[in-house]
Amino acid sequence: MFNKEDNLLRLKDASRAMEICNACRYCETLCPVFPQITQFRTFDEATLNYLSNLCHNCKGCYHSCQYAPPHEFNLNIPKTFSELRVDSYIKYAFPNILGKLFAKNGTVVSIIIALCIALLFIAGSYFNSADSLFTAYDGKGSFFKVIPYEVMTLVSALIFLHVIIAFIVGFRRFWTENGDKMSELTDLSLWKYAMGAVATLKHLDGGDNGHGCNHMDDRFTHSRKWYHHAVMYGFILTLISTTLAAIYHHFLGLQAPYDFDSLVVITGALGGILMVIGCVGLTYIKIKADPIPISQKLLGMDYSFIAILALVNITGLLLLVFRDGIYMPSLLCIHLGFVLAFFLIMPYSKFVHLLYRLGALLKYAKYVKNN
Ligand code: HEM
Ligand code: SF4
Ligand code: SF4
Repeated sequence: MFNKEDNLLRLKDASRAMEICNACRYCETLCPVFPQITQFRTFDEATLNYLSNLCHNCKGCYHSCQYAPPHEFNLNIPKTFSELRVDSYIKYAFPNILGKLFAKNGTVVSIIIALCIALLFIAGSYFNSADSLFTAYDGKGSFFKVIPYEVMTLVSALIFLHVIIAFIVGFRRFWTENGDKMSELTDLSLWKYAMGAVATLKHLDGGDNGHGCNHMDDRFTHSRKWYHHAVMYGFILTLISTTLAAIYHHFLGLQAPYDFDSLVVITGALGGILMVIGCVGLTYIKIKADPIPISQKLLGMDYSFIAILALVNITGLLLLVFRDGIYMPSLLCIHLGFVLAFFLIMPYSKFVHLLYRLGALLKYAKYVKNN
């Protein structure tokens, strides 16, 4: 599905589209892609990889374009760029061989989830200090009676190390592909622009018109941006919660589970609820969306990413509610199974959009600074 020949055809198609757009310029105010392409006369692979990651997939240019299907020019930039983005994820993946997982994300994610949950149940049965996994535990440290703290910490530290290495190598491959130097990243003004654009997702605002994007059809809406905010800020809150829990455990000598009014639980629960709301909203938009500017090949990857994010949070919230009863050990195994699967697949799932979109915004910040 994602082989070299297909990639070459997509690059050729994207290059043709960009040359037509450079002559037309009708979409110049829609998003950063169009002002950026005026700097190029020809479009090589590195440039197109950058542009496809700069595209926010708002579909504005598809609905504005007089050359979109059924016109014979058949310009469908959101679809072409979506597929090129995945080609770029495969190219930058580390180790390279695991890049192949992107092509079968739906199946791979399902298999990894099933294996991780099975593994956690085996570990839970092995380490569990009671006879049965259906045992109610009281008080502090109850989670670690099912899976010991040392086992949880060692496994997470190893996976985290792998994710960090894969992310650094991937980002470096993306950043240097068109000749940019890593040392340029010390320019704080680039970070200021890029982080502002990430925090507000301003490139989903529909450019100068500010009416939002055409996610479902030719009507303008801000809904995708708001659902994405719910997911992204929810994710940040859950990261804060995990960090606080580690501080409580290591520096304050306090063991999980924490009280309902503690900062760990408040930030974790709020983050989880926000992520579930965001995932439901993004799924609704995807189901209702006009299929033509969407790549059907990528739906497996998109849905599996949204599903695993939602399931990590739903099982986490269920664990919070039932943590004092007999279902706690099984719910803990299921929740940790989803978390393990999420982190294992992280560098080979749609999660990497964060890395390369941030990189593309940093590159675009250079253009903004110099013009
Ligand atoms: C640098 C930070 C980020 C940027 C610039 C960014 C940007 C985007 C954009 C533009 C899209 C829509 C285009 C597409 O379908 O590819 C998207 C999709 C998505 N993002 Fe992010 N994102 C960031 C971080 C995150 C984080 C931290 C999460 C949560 C863990 C997240 C979750 C999602 C989800 C679930 C979708 C899928 C929506 C769909 O397929 O309809 N993003 N992101
Ligand atoms: S997408 Fe169509 S309307 Fe927009 S600049 Fe390109 S050719 Fe012109
Ligand atoms: S889909 Fe939206 S973000 Fe992507 S190139 Fe078209 S207008 Fe720009």
